[in-house]
Amino acid sequence: MAFQQPPLPYDFNALEPYGMKAETFEYHYGKHHKAYVDNLNKLTDGTELADKSLEEVIKATFRDASKVGIFNNAAQVWNHTFFWNSLKPAGGGQPSGALADKIDKDFGSFEKFAEEFSNAAATQFGSGWAWLIDDGGTLKVIKTPNAENPLAYGQKAILTLDVWEHAYYIDYRNARPAFIKNYLEQLVNWDFAAENLAKA
Ligand SMILES: [Fe+2]
Repeated sequence: MAFQQPPLPYDFNALEPYGMKAETFEYHYGKHHKAYVDNLNKLTDGTELADKSLEEVIKATFRDASKVGIFNNAAQVWNHTFFWNSLKPAGGGQPSGALADKIDKDFGSFEKFAEEFSNAAATQFGSGWAWLIDDGGTLKVIKTPNAENPLAYGQKAILTLDVWEHAYYIDYRNARPAFIKNYLEQLVNWDFAAENLAKA
């Protein structure tokens, strides 16, 4: 069974009123994400990794110098699926319930979390990701280079933002800070984050 690209959880144009064009999804989902899936299938075809879960492939190949290409493509498949789920139409703003309480407890306030997350996303040099994670029961913000992710580090991902230039160039050109601001104000899927916290 080859690795599959999961369907987007909304239509290509669903986020247009919220600062992310259908054209972004035509490229980012339709070309970039799909290419990672196709490359992963090519690289694992006929090997023992082809029968493992995506999560198992990521953990098995991380920091294995002979399997860098497999790790990069597998992690990018996982990261993008996680990213699509981290977005929703009319999202953003503040979470509620247990997640809001946990953010207040671990960061001091929602504003402190937002500042830390924005700073991580803005300062990831070159390609990478910003994450809200659960690290042994404490929520933290981290940034990761290229394809690396919390799963590889043994942490639980709660929410992510893709800060590769391909994620924002169509909507925001080179203005990464504007893309980050819009994500927090209009796109974050706090329901998805709350589900991930409940499972952590
Ligand atoms: Fe991406």
